[in-house]
This record gives sequence, C-alpha cells and structure tokens, in this order.
Amino acid sequence: MDTRQTLDLGDLRGPVLIFGGPYSNLAATHAMRARADELGIPPERIICTGDVVAYCAEPEETIALVRDWGIPVVLGNCEESLGLASSDCGCGFDEGTTCSLLSVDWYHFANERMSEDDRAWMRTLPKAIRFTLNGKSILVVHGGVEQINRFIFPSTAAVIKQAELDLAGTDILVGGHSGIPSGVRTGNRAWLNAGAIGMPANDGTTDGWYLILSTEKERLRCLWQRLSYSATSTVKKMRAVGMTGNYTDCLATGLWPSMDVLPDADREKRGQALTIEDIFC
Ligand SMILES: [Fe+2]
Repeated sequence: MDTRQTLDLGDLRGPVLIFGGPYSNLAATHAMRARADELGIPPERIICTGDVVAYCAEPEETIALVRDWGIPVVLGNCEESLGLASSDCGCGFDEGTTCSLLSVDWYHFANERMSEDDRAWMRTLPKAIRFTLNGKSILVVHGGVEQINRFIFPSTAAVIKQAELDLAGTDILVGGHSGIPSGVRTGNRAWLNAGAIGMPANDGTTDGWYLILSTEKERLRCLWQRLSYSATSTVKKMRAVGMTGNYTDCLATGLWPSMDVLPDADREKRGQALTIEDIFC
C-alpha cells in the first residue's frame, strides 16, 4: 500500500465505529450520527469506508452532513469519479448489466449537483486509513487494497481475503463497497466488511449495518450492528426528483434491484435476514 495515500490515525483508545455507503441517503446518515452520539463515540473514532454519494436523491445534503460531522472518510469509487467529474461512477459494473444501466441515472443526477468545493474535498480523501487498537494494526479501504472497486462478498473465497490481508500487511483489514457486511477470521487476523447504511443488505430487512471494534478481555471484538431507521423522507425525496422503482423499492423491501454482481452463493441468501457472529482476535 502506498503510504502517501494512507491516513494514519495512530493509536486509538476506545471503541471504533466503522460504516460505509451513505449513498446520498440523508435520513440513514442522520440516524448513523445519532447512534454514534448515543454510543458516545466521538468523530475521531468513526470511519466511513466511502461512497458518501450514490443511489439516493440528497447528495449535497449528505456530503454536508458528513463534512460537518468531521469523521475520517476513505475515498470511495464514487468520490474518486465525482472528484474528477468523470463520466461514470467507476463502480465496476459490467457493461450492459442492470446495475450499470441504473448507475447512469443516479450518477448523472449527483454529478450535476456537485459543487466545486465538494469535488475538491473528495480529491483530498485518502485511499486507506490505518490505526492501531489494543495492539492490533488495522487498515480500512474501500473495496480491495489495490483496487478501489473490487467486489469482495461474504461468499468470496477465503484465499482471496487472505491475499488481501497479506497485501494490507495488518492484523485486520476492513473494506466496504460490496454492500453486505461479513467477516472471516484467519489465525489471529481478520478480514471484515463493515456493510453499508444507505441501502439494505439484500436480506429482506430495511436496515443498514455498521461495525464496532472494541477491546474486551484483552481481545479485539468485531461486532456488527443493524441500523434501523425510517427511510420515508429518503423515498419521498427520490420520488420528488423522478427516482422511482429499483432503489426506492429496495429501501422498502430490503431486496436489491439486481444481483448482477453477486456470486451464486450470496444470491441464494437473498431475503434471508442476516445474522453475523462476533469475531474475536
Ligand atoms: Fe463503491
């Protein structure tokens, strides 16, 4: 990992909250901030894995909230693209797939609304954030360590996750991008995906997900939590600007509009409420 593009937060003391994918969903982002406040976790111990802007209708408002919050944010492929006013989201969807076709609309909507100040902020974001917690070294990226839009899913082979950990060179690697929270322990190390707050996890519930890393009895505990909130205002805003079906349906049903990017093993879990065991390492 190129250390020039890595923000080092040093040694953190106390629980660390990590979440991804606000996706222009202002209500979900407000809910995440309120939950962090309830938990007493300050901005310096909260990390967003990127994609602040995507599928929903409040890109400027969501960026303003995240910037006001003052939390460290990893560069997502959406920020990388919008920062440079690129022609597409850079999500890594195959051409002609439903995901790719849908992204044309929401990316165009967001790109038209970005201020130069927000684009400049995006261009300052680090590609990775590192810190230590209870003696464990932790790296947070968006997708893969070397590929920002790499999709790594719960069913992705353990050998690939191990290879990512080796690239990171840390005890724990945390990613986002793929939208489904999960984790696997390998020896005393662990590969984790914090999940996303702005869209459900295709599990038939309307919740988003976040991850808390904390110290418990000399070990590091990795705990995933649901973020339950009302998406009523999010859907209302989307409908008001002509975003209907697909992602508005997803917010109501908890089911993704397309599973183009999903491996078969994850497709089979569509609509099954997720449960994720804690990982201790
Ligand atoms: Fe992404």
